[in-house]
Amino acid sequence: MSHLEIKNLHVNIEGKEILKGLSLTINKGEVHAIMGPNGTGKSTLAYTLMGHPNYTVTEGEVIFKGQNILELEPDERSRTGIFLAFQYPVAIPGVTVANFLRSAINARSRAENPEDKGMPIPEFRKFLKEHMDMLKMDHAFAGRYLNDGFSGGEKKRAEILQMAALRPEIAILDETDSGLDIDALRIVSEGVNALSGPDLGVLVITHYQRLLNYIKPQFVHVMMGGRIVESGGPDLALHLEEHGYDWIREKVEA
Ligand SMILES: Nc1ncnc2c1ncn2[C@@H]1O[C@H](COP(=O)(O)OP(=O)(O)OP(=O)(O)O)[C@@H](O)[C@H]1O
Ligand SMILES: [Mg+2]
Repeated sequence: MSHLEIKNLHVNIEGKEILKGLSLTINKGEVHAIMGPNGTGKSTLAYTLMGHPNYTVTEGEVIFKGQNILELEPDERSRTGIFLAFQYPVAIPGVTVANFLRSAINARSRAENPEDKGMPIPEFRKFLKEHMDMLKMDHAFAGRYLNDGFSGGEKKRAEILQMAALRPEIAILDETDSGLDIDALRIVSEGVNALSGPDLGVLVITHYQRLLNYIKPQFVHVMMGGRIVESGGPDLALHLEEHGYDWIREKVEA
């Protein structure tokens, strides 16, 4: 059964068409990667899926668990189990990492069961400790305001913590590798892998094959000019690393 199905998606920003008929299906348990030159609409796809108000869908559908999610508000989409790790996460001064995560966990549980009383504090402390240790984060981060003054790599770790808290069914990771040093790349990838499983579909957007050595996709797609123009296995990413995008550009133009 297909899980997330994007069909012929067309999206405008400020009246300019950015996505031009993008189709992609992600099944449970699958890991997909999207690569592609700057400005081709990769982040636009991620924002559109989450319902960012600047992105206007003019055509197409996004079916998730049998429902067209384009009809839902962003918070409702999130409650259906879609998670987006942003390319540029925003700071939330006044909300600590711990508070944010606890709210996220409880919101997720309430979405499943409206009667849920929320995670007891000792259990939450255990969750926090385990996941911060997994991501090699100093426990002091729990008390800091979310993303406020965080370094690039610290923000990416915080995103994975949020993913752990929300237990999504589809996770979209937009350039989770950008700004990570070599060790952090491995640690964050291991974090994603630890959360992966037969019930999670993952879409990673990346510029570098390197990330895909850690988060191993079964499917690699190339996006150009607002649509998927080439799909293949992990070897496609290796080929791109070596040969760049020109050969695809020529193929598309031909
Ligand atoms: N608010 C906006 N107003 C006008 N154009 C926009 C706006 N937001 C995005 N765009 C344009 O949409 C295009 C696609 O942007 P997008 O961020 O989706 O690209 P991307 O594939 O993620 O690129 P990168 O690899 O650099 O992250 C770009 O040309 C960008 O300038
Ligand atoms: Mg982008």
